Amino acid sequence: MLTEADNILLTRTGQKTPMGDLFRRFWQPVLLSAELPEPDGPPVRLTVLGEDLRAFRSTDGTVGIVSPRCPHRGADLFFGRNEEGGIRCAYHGWKFAVDGHCLALPTMDPGPARMRAEGTIRLLTYPAREAGGFVWAYLGPQAHRPPFPEFEFTALPAAHVFVSKKLQQCNWAQACEGGLDTAHFSFLHMAISDADAVTADLLTKVSSGIDTVRWMRNDGAPRFTIDAHPAGLVLGAARRGDPDETYWRISQFLMPNHGLTPNAFPGEIYHGQCWVPIGDTSCWIYNYTWNPDRPLTEAERARFSAGSGIHAQVDARYIPLRRRENDYLIDRTKQKTESFTGIEGVSEQDACIQDSQGFIADRTAEHLGPTDMGVIRFRRLILDAARALTQGEPPAALAHPRAYRVRGGGAVAPSAMGFGEVMRSRFGNEHGLAAPHTTATA
Ligand code: FES
Ligand SMILES: [Fe+2]
Repeated sequence: MLTEADNILLTRTGQKTPMGDLFRRFWQPVLLSAELPEPDGPPVRLTVLGEDLRAFRSTDGTVGIVSPRCPHRGADLFFGRNEEGGIRCAYHGWKFAVDGHCLALPTMDPGPARMRAEGTIRLLTYPAREAGGFVWAYLGPQAHRPPFPEFEFTALPAAHVFVSKKLQQCNWAQACEGGLDTAHFSFLHMAISDADAVTADLLTKVSSGIDTVRWMRNDGAPRFTIDAHPAGLVLGAARRGDPDETYWRISQFLMPNHGLTPNAFPGEIYHGQCWVPIGDTSCWIYNYTWNPDRPLTEAERARFSAGSGIHAQVDARYIPLRRRENDYLIDRTKQKTESFTGIEGVSEQDACIQDSQGFIADRTAEHLGPTDMGVIRFRRLILDAARALTQGEPPAALAHPRAYRVRGGGAVAPSAMGFGEVMRSRFGNEHGLAAPHTTATA
């Protein structure tokens, strides 16, 4: 439970809000690279943390994240021509490079006055870079631009990685909390019949002694152990497994808005999500999926593209097919006979229940219990960081870009084994750090 003031502090990320200031200190995914497929292609609109922006890919392939407003008289650069090294306003032809400097002022006569003006007039821009299939932007003060976080998926060859995005129709924080609350899998995503697609996928491992479906069905009250690390939190949820064994689902929260999922066993595919506020009542979810050991197969890519696990079924504008307006196409018959929700897809089940908490969840009337420990620790960490920043203290995670190279995943361990030892045996170290990769991605 939070006070109303803390709930506001947690959920508001517009300009000049404490949480908005905190988010702006971190590099944020703001587009898929695929949304700007070609040099000199059409500019696109985007809204990040309540801020209206435009993006374009210039002739040399670099991306500009810019103000929508032409500095001359405010025409929208969405309608501009993206041509020969810059974006040219369609109104009177002023032209700007990706870093905002003025390339042409054709409404002035050539001469010293025009040269002076070209040197001083600038378009507002933000630093951008591409990594792991996303365009990332830094919207904070230039003097505090941090090193780029070293997520494992951004260091792998592109063939090992799949990314997607989807609209989430509620505030970022409750969606992020949904990712950290791994207890809900025993209910929200659970099948009544083994014919359910999610369950059928999980049941493929039963032959090798990994029966996560049965363990999650049988134990809906996992015990949480949570450790802080330089980039955030590692969260272990322990369920009873086979006799004398514990099934651990280990997730990660990475400041300020990433979550890594707890499902992958060694050799399997890892997943992460980043909840990037559009405004205070919606966010984009940037999903990343990677296999450090091998390229993803065409069949795996096709499955993720069609909507599977964290990847939703979306239209060309990344709007989920099953969403608020159509009650996520809930099928009440299937809810009685096949799955707990009657809604198709893990991502859609998450979206439904998180949206259902309201556009901005009211945390003043909750009754939190032991399985909410991850949610409690997340709130404490990020609220303390936002408050500290108002006192001039920057978030500690910014100084630890390598601490982002972590994994989440599943493990089966003897029941007597403590969480630290489980982490060491599953990942080789207590925080889930992955070994560095030497191959750089394109
Ligand atoms: S408003 Fe853009 S050039 Fe005049
Ligand atoms: Fe979920």
